[in-house]
Amino acid sequence: MIEKGVMAPSKVERKRSFSIKNNRQPEFATVHRVKIEDVNQIYEVACSVGTAIKDPYKGFLIDDYLSDPEYYKNMFAKAAEELDHFYVAKREGRILGFLMAYPKDKLLEIDPTWLDEIVWDPDFDYGEKTKNFVLVGKTAIRSSLTGKGIGSLLYTRLIRDVKAKGINDLFGETVINPVPNFASLAFRIKQNYKLAGIRYGNYKGRKVTDLIYHRHI
Ligand SMILES: CC(C)(COP(=O)(O)OP(=O)(O)OC[C@H]1O[C@@H](n2cnc3c(N)ncnc32)[C@H](O)[C@@H]1OP(=O)(O)O)[C@@H](O)C(=O)NCCC(=O)NCCS
Repeated sequence: MIEKGVMAPSKVERKRSFSIKNNRQPEFATVHRVKIEDVNQIYEVACSVGTAIKDPYKGFLIDDYLSDPEYYKNMFAKAAEELDHFYVAKREGRILGFLMAYPKDKLLEIDPTWLDEIVWDPDFDYGEKTKNFVLVGKTAIRSSLTGKGIGSLLYTRLIRDVKAKGINDLFGETVINPVPNFASLAFRIKQNYKLAGIRYGNYKGRKVTDLIYHRHI
């Protein structure tokens, strides 16, 4: 959507951009809908936090992206074509992070048992809250740039667009087994997500347990 240079942001861009925390000189990032030409940089970002080594404190993506570059680049390219809510945060043409989210129908097309595998919190009104929702699938910020507000910026854009479609329920998953993602858990709390359930799933032949978080937007 917005593609102008970030060194001299326009009035509109200034409204949408933000000052990245912890930097002495204010720098600006802008959020855009993904484009197919972003795939290589998205893959780079994914590799920076998705390797064979999972650090619970820094956070991680569950896949090892270095293991099969072609497969993962194709996966991102397909998602870029198919998903409405796949965004990148950019500064001076460099992708700093990305977020991809699935509307309910797309999610259930890819993973038909997703809802059935969740053990819901008895107090969570899942019947009502799963009528129409968006699941945030992957969020990743370059490993050297986490904790600077970029993830939050991506969420601000996602929420604006999802609400504009009349959808008010957002879900997110955080892995707690085989390795807990503490960075993600902290981020969920900061983002005002509430625990809604737990999912004992199977990912590429491995048992993976996720906490399922819900946020009313
Ligand atoms: C989780 C992630 C997407 C958050 O994006 P971000 O740009 O780092 O987050 P923001 O700067 O917008 O928000 C910072 C908040 O996230 C949480 N957080 C981010 N990194 C953290 C870390 N290493 N340890 C603990 N909390 C962390 C904290 O709540 C932090 O709030 P604080 O600064 O007040 O302590 C990002 O850290 C990341 O890509 N991590 C690696 C991949 C990953 O774990 N993805 C799963 C995403 S759910």
